[in-house]
Amino acid sequence: MESLESIEGNERYVFERADICNNIEIRRIFNQHQPDVVMHLAAESHVDRSIEGPGEFIQTNIMGTYQLLEQSRLYYSGLEDRKKGEFRFHHISTDEVYGDLGATEILFTEKTSYDPSSPYSASKASSDHLVRAWQRTFNLPTLITNCSNNYGPYQFPEKLIPLMILNALEGRELPIYGDGNQIRDWLYVDDHARALLHVALSGEVGETYNIGGHNEMKNIEVIKKICSILDELCPSKIKGVTSYEKLITYVDDRVGHDVRYAIDASKIKTELNWMPHETFETGIRKTVQWYLDNRTWSDHVQDGSYQSQKLEGI
Ligand code: DAU
Repeated sequence: MESLESIEGNERYVFERADICNNIEIRRIFNQHQPDVVMHLAAESHVDRSIEGPGEFIQTNIMGTYQLLEQSRLYYSGLEDRKKGEFRFHHISTDEVYGDLGATEILFTEKTSYDPSSPYSASKASSDHLVRAWQRTFNLPTLITNCSNNYGPYQFPEKLIPLMILNALEGRELPIYGDGNQIRDWLYVDDHARALLHVALSGEVGETYNIGGHNEMKNIEVIKKICSILDELCPSKIKGVTSYEKLITYVDDRVGHDVRYAIDASKIKTELNWMPHETFETGIRKTVQWYLDNRTWSDHVQDGSYQSQKLEGI
């Protein structure tokens, strides 16, 4: 709830805590709030967790998407024609559905075949297929976006970038899986959010749009960059650690680790006039500064107390 503090007082904001698999609750929420657009961002999203326990990924990502589609279809069928024309179900997905590019120069386009590697990406691929089927079979007006790796404020510290920042500040090891030469295409979270609005408001029904930052980097380069910004903004006081880079530790590789992801985002640029505003250089600096300025937020995530925060002001 602390992530939402800045908008708590906004009269256009309402929060409902519900499980997307709970069709009774979802039906009530649709009827009560009468949405024009549904943006479906609810997912189990961490690859390592999906390897440790795939069950929740199957349940939330596949069954949850099915329930949301069904409740949307029910709600949509009861709308008057004008509202029907405006309604959109926007499914937010990942570039991981396309699989691993290996050491090639190829980019993922909207036409790349699906080839997911992990239980997480397989569950997201499955949910994408459900969304396309509901559009084709039931004429539900859907849109799909597949985005590359996000980073920025408020990211849960299981993901690479916040994990490295917080581990460094705590003097803990910075674990690099395998040789650290895997490549990801990094996009600042605000750029992703703007892209989602472009698609939800102006995208063509039934279409898919890839979203990416053209910021391909090796994991080891990302971690060294974080260390150098931290060395500058918050020099280490840890004994024997003159630079945070000294904390880098190579560990066993992730099982089935995808070597490279890279997005061709030319469709959303050409058709919807979207461009990322941040370079990796500007975005990562803002991100490191945000984690330095918001230690209470990350403390509450790390000690688990965020889960029992009261739903105040709602
Ligand atoms: O491509 C989009 C996807 O990006 C999203 O769909 C996923 O929800 C999101 O988790 C992310 O997947 P990745 O597996 O690429 O992100 P993650 O932050 O877990 O890892 C990024 C890279 O860093 C990956 O090659 C694994 C590596 N890594 C990760 C962690 C957590 C490490 O070397 N050490 C680590 O401790």
